Amino acid sequence: MTLIEEVNARKTFAIISHPDAGKTTMTEKLLQLGDLIRTTGTVKGKKTGKYATSDWMEIEKQRGISVTSSVMNFPYKSHKVTILDTPGHEDFSEDTYRTLTAVDSVVMIIDATKGIEAQTIKLFKVCKMRGIPIFTFINKLDREGREPLELLEQIEEVLDIETYPMNWPVGMGKRFLGIFDRYHEQFVAYNGNEKESFYDYESLENGEVPSITEDVTYQETKDELALLDEAGDPFTLDRVLKGEQTPVFFGSALAPFGVESFFDTFVEMAPSPKPRRTTEGLKRPENTDFSGFIFKIQANMNPQHRDRVAFLRVCSGKFERGMTVKLPRTNKTIKLNQTQQFVASSRDTVEEAYPGDIIGIYDPGVYRIGDTLLEGKGAFEYDELPQFPPELFKRVTAKNVMKAKQFKKGLEQLVQEGAIQLFTQHPMESYIIGAVGDLQYQVFEHRMRNEYNVEVTLESIGERIPRWLDEEKVDTSLFDERNMLVKDREGAFLVLFKNDFALKWFEDKHPNITLIDLFEVN
Ligand code: G4P
Repeated sequence: MTLIEEVNARKTFAIISHPDAGKTTMTEKLLQLGDLIRTTGTVKGKKTGKYATSDWMEIEKQRGISVTSSVMNFPYKSHKVTILDTPGHEDFSEDTYRTLTAVDSVVMIIDATKGIEAQTIKLFKVCKMRGIPIFTFINKLDREGREPLELLEQIEEVLDIETYPMNWPVGMGKRFLGIFDRYHEQFVAYNGNEKESFYDYESLENGEVPSITEDVTYQETKDELALLDEAGDPFTLDRVLKGEQTPVFFGSALAPFGVESFFDTFVEMAPSPKPRRTTEGLKRPENTDFSGFIFKIQANMNPQHRDRVAFLRVCSGKFERGMTVKLPRTNKTIKLNQTQQFVASSRDTVEEAYPGDIIGIYDPGVYRIGDTLLEGKGAFEYDELPQFPPELFKRVTAKNVMKAKQFKKGLEQLVQEGAIQLFTQHPMESYIIGAVGDLQYQVFEHRMRNEYNVEVTLESIGERIPRWLDEEKVDTSLFDERNMLVKDREGAFLVLFKNDFALKWFEDKHPNITLIDLFEVN
C-alpha cells in the first residue's frame, strides 16, 4: 500500500462517556467485530478480577482499574482502527484530556436512562475546543429510558451542538421493537439476545412483519419520523467533520443491537488523519518524512527499572523501528529501537507505523509531553498541547521539613512531566497542586514516596473555578480565601473561585478585570 492509502485507511478515535454508560461494553463489542477477542470481559479486569495487561502501575493493580488510557488497534474491513481508551471517574486525569489531542474523532456514549452526565460534559468541552468530530451513541435502549426527542434536545442545549439522528428508535425497554435506520433507509428489528433482522421500508409497508407494523408504537413513531424528516436539520457531513453537528445512533451495546451498523457508518464517515499545525505551518500526513508528537508519558511501568514509555502519535510519513529521529526541543538525535504497539491484551514490538497510529517508545527520561520527533532536515514542532484547567486544588507540604530539597525536586519533575499542575499562592508562597481528577493526587503521593522518598501532606481547598487574569500587576487586596489569588508556573496570575456565586459576584463588582476561561481560549 502507498503512504496515502495507509493514511486513508486509518481511523483513530476515542470513546468518551460518563462511567457506567457502557464504554467498556462497547469497546468489547467493537473488538469482537474486529475479531480481536472472542469472549467479552478482557478489556478491563474490574469485573472478572483478572487484570488486563494494560493495568501497568502498581496503583492500578491495587485498585483493579486502568489508570492511563490504553490503546487498541485492529483491522476492520478495509480500515485500520485505533481506539484510545479514556479512563473514567476516579481514574480521570489530565491524561484523559491529552488523549483527545491524539485522535481524529470521538465516539460519545450516552446512557439513555440518564441523559448527559458530568464527565461527558467535561470531555465534550475538550472535543469542542479542538473541533474534533463527535459521533454519538445513545445506549441501553433495551431499558426504559428518556424519550429520544428529549435526549436530543438535551444534547443540543447542554452541549451546544446540532444533532442529526441517523436512526430513530421504536419504543424502548420492554416495548423496544427496533430502529428506523434513516441513513440506510431500512428497518432494523430488535430480537432480544438474537441477532437483529433487517427489512427495507417497502417490504414492511407491504405487511411482511405484522408484529411490527401493527404495533401502535410503530405507527406513532412513523409519524414522529415524518416530522423529523420535515422539520429536523439536514445531515451535513461537512458540518460533522467540523464538529458542528453530531450524528446520533440509538442502540444497545450489551444486546448488542445497532452496534455493527453504527460502526460501519462510523468508519465510513470518520475522518482519517488530517494535516496538523506546526511551527512551520500545516504538516500533511502523506509527507514522506516521519514525524509525530508525544501526548503521554507512562512512568514507572516496571517498578524495578523505573522505565517509562512515551506514547507517540504518528502524524506524517512512515515510522520504522531503529530509525534515527530528531527531538527539536533539545536538538538531539535519538535511535528508536525499543518500540511497542498496543493491543488490548498484549504489547508487541512495532516494526513500522503510519499516520494515525499510536506507538510506545522507551523513554530513558529524555522526553516531555508535547515533544515532537521527526526525521529529515526539518526542525518544526507540533502545536503545544493545551493546558487544561484543573478543578481540584490541594495545598501541599512535605511532612518532614528536612526533606525540602527532595520535595522541591520531586514537585518540579512531576510538574514537568505533566502529572500535576503547580501553583503558588500569592503573596504567601505556599504550594497548591491542581488536578483534573483525584487520582492524580494518589499517583503524586505514591511517586513522591517511592521515587523521591518524601511523605507529603495534602490539604484540600476544595473544588475551585480557575480564571486566568490578563494582567501582570494586580491589587492583592481584592482577593481572599473565596477568590484566592495564585500564580501558575509561568508566573501568570489566576484566581481560584470558591464557586459560581463567588465568580459572578467578582465579575459584577470588577467589570474592568478580564477573567479568562482556559476552555474558551485553547
Ligand atoms: P463503563 O465502561 O462506561 O463504565 O460501562 P460498562 O460497559 O462497564 O457498563 C456499565 C453497566 O451497564 C454494566 O452493567 C453493563 O453490563 C451495562 N450495560 C452496558 N451496555 C448496556 C446496554 O446496552 N443495556 C443494558 N441494559 N445494560 C448495559 P453492570 O451491572 O455494572 O456490570 P455487569 O455485571 O453487567 O458486568
